[in-house]
Amino acid sequence: MNPSDPGSRIPDPGLLARDRAVVWHPYTQMQTAPPPLPIVRGKGVYLYTEDGREILDGISSWWVNIHGHSHPALNAALAEQAARLEHVMFAGCTHPPAVDLAERLVARLPPGLTRVFYSDNGSTAVEVAVKLAAQYWINRGEPQRTAFVALHHAYHGDTVGAMSVSEASVFTRAFTPLLFSVARAHAPYCYRCPLGLERATCGVECLGDLEGTLARLAGTAAAVLVEPMLQGAGGMIVWPAEFLAGVRRLCDRYGVLMIADEVLTGFGRTGRMFACEHAAVAPDIICLSKALTAGYLPLGATCTTDAVYEAFLSDDRSRTFFHGHSFTANPLACAVALASLDLFERERTLARVARLEAQLRTGLAPLAGLPLVGDVRVIGGVGAIELVADSTVGTDPLTNRRGGPSGPPVGASGGAARYLDEIGPRLAAAFLTRGLLLRPLGNVLYFMPPYVITDEQAAWAIDQIGEVLEEVGARS
Ligand SMILES: Cc1ncc(COP(=O)(O)O)c(C=O)c1O
Repeated sequence: MNPSDPGSRIPDPGLLARDRAVVWHPYTQMQTAPPPLPIVRGKGVYLYTEDGREILDGISSWWVNIHGHSHPALNAALAEQAARLEHVMFAGCTHPPAVDLAERLVARLPPGLTRVFYSDNGSTAVEVAVKLAAQYWINRGEPQRTAFVALHHAYHGDTVGAMSVSEASVFTRAFTPLLFSVARAHAPYCYRCPLGLERATCGVECLGDLEGTLARLAGTAAAVLVEPMLQGAGGMIVWPAEFLAGVRRLCDRYGVLMIADEVLTGFGRTGRMFACEHAAVAPDIICLSKALTAGYLPLGATCTTDAVYEAFLSDDRSRTFFHGHSFTANPLACAVALASLDLFERERTLARVARLEAQLRTGLAPLAGLPLVGDVRVIGGVGAIELVADSTVGTDPLTNRRGGPSGPPVGASGGAARYLDEIGPRLAAAFLTRGLLLRPLGNVLYFMPPYVITDEQAAWAIDQIGEVLEEVGARS
């Protein structure tokens, strides 16, 4: 039967042909991209295609999945909530799942974060944070505080405000005229240290750039926005905890708000429930999404301190935070998020992440010896391998420069660098043939499976990574 026309005798043209006719995919050059994977089912760490292939989801479906696909407890919570209340607007109404979830989050978040403002994805969680910070200073009678400070290699989402605070890239280029300007300070990208120092002997001097930036903006900075401990889309850059502690210290010293974008890092991805815990810091505002619902449904939460919240309380309506979305605090999403928090306790999820981290450390470390491998980084349930044209000189394959995009050029452009520009899609295709779904970020290959992956499944995936890198290295 043809599912697009149940009464028809015309044979089903197949999901891919129908997709090609009417769908426009994200981040996809529709003219040249290979056909998408037709996924019809998921179970645990596996995805299943229409033609019966079993594929291990090595990137947790864009970093959202933690307890595995189609988990019975999450399915039950979703069905139960759907039978009770699927959705209601959240201005002038409330409902038990939203209140229960806010209570549970406040109890588990770093201390002092006492208010939960819901939205519906990671970008909106960041937009809300930026707008809250901007209006906070107006409400506090310091309207000159309009400047935002973010870091190099930052990625905070694709809406206009989130793009503004993200590092400029090919992804944001077409929208440059729409973006507001943001002051940018060094990130602690130790493999390509912006100051040319070595982590083993440095004193996190890269923080000095943030300090200089805040000093220069004296009295006009509204907030510093960071992805704590792990900058994701910017290249899976793992931080020393001292840098994060330093960000908090500098925000206090200069009296600006600290916004932690934990859209990726929240809910155990870095080995702690929230990445801020690595440095025992509490931000003024935290952004959550992705694994908040264990990857089931879109939901965002921007949580703030009493001090931020109270700046919006007034008899004067103009001090209200005028922001909302049709699906704010969707009850289905909140119910699944609550069931996910239960699983963290019942299945001792953080202990599982610690085991995965140990396995990633021992499994990936030997790859550092391969000629194509410049750096191996592991934090929590994330293992990243930065590929270079030649590990003996540490050339950045995307820019053909040492020391990152701002470093001095090495040799002429082209050659190995151009070869490595193409390496992401080639690696992805090689892994897919072996039944492993990975999606390298430029020259950074990473493995970020759902936490429920077994030791055997993780060992198998690590073997595939090693074998493919050896094959590719031998051919280059
Ligand atoms: C740190 C961070 N912030 C924000 C976002 C945007 O989230 P979303 O894709 O749900 O809009 C992402 C997405 O990858 C992210 O990694």
